[in-house]
This record gives sequence, C-alpha cells and structure tokens, in this order.
Amino acid sequence: MGELMALIEVENLSVTFSANSRQVRAVENVSLTVGERESFGLVGESGSGKSTILRAICGLAPISEGSIRIKGEPVKTPRGKAFSALVQMVFQDPYASLHPRHTIDRTLSEPLAIHGIPDTDKRVMAALTDVGLPTSFRFRYPHQLSGGQRQRVAIARALMLKPAILLLDEPTSALDASVQAETLNLLSRLRDERGLTFLMVSHDLAVIDHMCDRILVMQNGRAVEELSRETLASAQMTTEYARSLFTASADRMLEGGTPHSFAPEYPEGGRESETLDPHPRQVRAQDRFEADFNPTQP
Ligand SMILES: Nc1ncnc2c1ncn2[C@@H]1O[C@H](COP(=O)(O)OP(=O)(O)OP(=O)(O)O)[C@@H](O)[C@H]1O
Ligand SMILES: [Mg+2]
Repeated sequence: MGELMALIEVENLSVTFSANSRQVRAVENVSLTVGERESFGLVGESGSGKSTILRAICGLAPISEGSIRIKGEPVKTPRGKAFSALVQMVFQDPYASLHPRHTIDRTLSEPLAIHGIPDTDKRVMAALTDVGLPTSFRFRYPHQLSGGQRQRVAIARALMLKPAILLLDEPTSALDASVQAETLNLLSRLRDERGLTFLMVSHDLAVIDHMCDRILVMQNGRAVEELSRETLASAQMTTEYARSLFTASADRMLEGGTPHSFAPEYPEGGRESETLDPHPRQVRAQDRFEADFNPTQP
C-alpha cells in the first residue's frame, strides 16, 4: 500500500429517507476517497446531501445502497467502540452538541469512562489546554461559555479518544467572523500536530479552499464535480454549477463578509498565524480584518 492509505472510502453511496410516506433521496450514488492526513471538503447548496454523507458514515443515517469503509474495513451497524475511537464528528452548533446540564469536566471525561481509559483528570486538563482554554473551565457549564469556547470544548471532546478522523459539519458557520477564523486555525494546528484526516462540510467554498486538498461539489444529492486545490485556485472548474458556487463565495469575501482564515488563533501571541498562506484573492478580506483588529495608533 502507498504512503497515503485510504482512510475513508465511500462507494456508490445512496441514502433514502422515508418521510410521511414519501421517499427522499438525500444522497444518490456518491463516491469519495480520503487519504490519511488528507483534508477533503464537501460543498454545495442547502439540502444537497452534505450532512447526510457525514451522518451515514457515523451511522446516523441509513446506507440504502453502496458501502463505506474506514481504514479498509466496512463499517458495522451499530458502529461500536472501535469506530468511535477512530472517527469523531464535530457539529455546526456547539450549544446543541454539548449537554446543557453537564459540566465541561463531565463532557470531556465521559468518552474516557466509556472506553476505560485511565488518568481522567490529567487528560481532561490537557485536552482543555490543547484547544486553548484555561483548565479552570472544567467546572463550568456550556451556558457559561461563549460560542467559540463551546466549539473548542466540542473539538476537545471529539479528540479525547485520539481519533484519526474528524468529520466536521460546518464547524464554524454558527460563530462570529473573528471567532470563525480562530477556530479554523485551531483545527489546522490540531490536524498538523496529530496527523488528523478531515472530511469537512461547508457551504462556503472559501473556507473549504483554505482547509482542504480536494473538494467534492454536491447538488441535489449527487456529486457534480471533484476539484483539486489547484483547479479551485485557478477557477478551472468544468461545471457551471461549481463555477457559480465559487463566484458566490469569492464575491462574499470581497464584500468583507467572511474574513475566515487569517486571525491568529491566539490574537496576542499569534503563535501559528504565519503558517497560513492566504490565497491572493483573499488578501483584501485579510487587510480589512487586520485593520479591524489593529486600529492605526494615534
Ligand atoms: N432524517 C431525515 N428524514 C427525511 N429527510 C431528510 C432527513 N435528513 C435529511 N433529509 C433530507 O435530505 C436532503 C439532504 O439533507 P442534508 O441535511 O444532507 O443537506 P445539506 O447539504 O447538509 O444542507 P445544509 O447546507 O442546509 O446543511 C434534504 O432534502 C433533507 O431535507
Ligand atoms: Mg448540513
């Protein structure tokens, strides 16, 4: 096997839901492969089936046809402990994904308890530190945190079992623009430090462009076009649909809407902001963003 082993293999996947005696074909005959340490993006309009693909991988949506393999092994139903030690999901809304009446400590220690992993205190504190939160946050509840801090907790929880794969469903779209940037940078850093593999959904091509090596464009449950980073950067997509998505994202950025990728994760220390090279067309948004945060001194 080559250097980059295929960690996620989705082959001819179809997902059909039955809703009120109607059949909804949410995903139709979609195939994708994500190599080890690769970041793969799913983009497309609302309802195009992006979340359903992630949910099918996790066992939260049925596999009506086709197959899903993780590390070469077909997934089992139910997915089981070995699967959750390997694959974890981060959802869009960190408030909904954290139990409101559990302390952060309980939220983070639960996966350890289920898997019989010792040294809970040490691991929980390390997990908080790793996502840039003070260890004193252990004793807080979700409502005592900001949206960005809650998403950091959700990411910490997803990483408690040291998975190889993160499935990220619009992990920053519920956050303020400046916090989106910090969260994306946190995810990039953790990915690099831990050699993680990402399968990531966004409706925003610009976010995906920043994070992903390859991109699958979805429409009405079908795969329209797979794009490499290079294709995207040079705007050489072959389908009109992919081009229109791209144009919409580029326009949003030039309006200064989503300065998504350039805030240092730690605004004061800036310890890895320099690892991110902006694409030329993103520079205007970056300038605007930096101006907001570094007002010219009198
Ligand atoms: N549990 C379900 N039961 C019935 N239909 C569903 C279910 N989950 C999703 N669908 C339908 O499947 C289609 C794809 O939904 P999905 O959530 O995957 O879209 P999406 O691309 O993630 O959209 P968004 O960008 O809005 O999150 C939609 O038509 C949706 O209404
Ligand atoms: Mg979705």
